[in-house]
Amino acid sequence: DMNHFLDIYKTDPSDLRGIIDNAKAMKGARAGRTRGAQDDEQPLAGHMVALIFEKPSTRTRVSFDVGVRQMGGQTMLLSGTEMQLGHGETIADTARVLSRYVDLIMIRTFDESVLIEMSEYADVPVINGLTDRTHPCQIIADVLTYEEHRGPIKGKKVVWSGDGNNVCASFLHAAGQFGFDLTFTGPAQLDPEDEFIGLARNAGSNIRIERDPFKAVEGADLVVTDTWVSMHDSQSTKERRHNLLRSYQVNEELMSHAKPDALFMHCLPAHREEEATSAVMDGPNSVVFDEAENRLHAQKAIMRWCLGV
Ligand code: CP
Ligand code: NVA
Repeated sequence: DMNHFLDIYKTDPSDLRGIIDNAKAMKGARAGRTRGAQDDEQPLAGHMVALIFEKPSTRTRVSFDVGVRQMGGQTMLLSGTEMQLGHGETIADTARVLSRYVDLIMIRTFDESVLIEMSEYADVPVINGLTDRTHPCQIIADVLTYEEHRGPIKGKKVVWSGDGNNVCASFLHAAGQFGFDLTFTGPAQLDPEDEFIGLARNAGSNIRIERDPFKAVEGADLVVTDTWVSMHDSQSTKERRHNLLRSYQVNEELMSHAKPDALFMHCLPAHREEEATSAVMDGPNSVVFDEAENRLHAQKAIMRWCLGV
């Protein structure tokens, strides 16, 4: 069976743990080198990876590209608008064609159905680089980041403040698979999907919804937020979303109600002074740039798991 990396809840907890361990090991093996230079081990030598973007990206694009090169492979960056994807040619046919050229496909797209169809018809592994619905690579990096700073995430309390969006969805999936609790605080109109709350609860996680952000963050080990308007949200909803979400801003006052050593995360890009203040983003408990760096290490481990190398 093909090792696609489509969502955190679709990957076995033991495999996820292996990915985190491998990411830590590869990061450590680079011995303080943050940038450039190939790794001593070259597991992707001779491999070609297609990186498809139907939406903008800074972190995902650069970290996948650099990660493949550090491991000795080569990449091909493809933008959705320049491909036949969905413009007459079916996703299935595109998947079959790409499988004749490349060894691995990473895709960032809008509707999840594009990712699913790609994975069903590709003869090579497919990685989810974000859809309207989920963002699994981000949360693997976030679990890695949490554990580097604070040790095992199992049993910890994570609070998501704001929009119950794609990044929040993958946090819920991770709660179930890694065994942490998650409290969502935000307006009812922007609650996470019931299906995903159910998955995490069935896996044994304590998932709470608390409308009062100050009550929600009590006892939090980690506070997370994300942009109030995602790439898949129409700009015409911007004002409505800002009005709904304003009271869920992560600022120093809110953080002061969490545990004193609570970490702060944001997947970036951030809109400073909107979903989070710069005082928090640049404050002592913020690990937002470690998260960004760890995208690289986490995705290298994900690609190796996909390819079995
Ligand atoms: N966090 C994240 O996925 O960032 P990009 O949109 O820049 O890739
Ligand atoms: N929720 C955001 C995440 C960006 C990395 C979006 O989908 O635009």
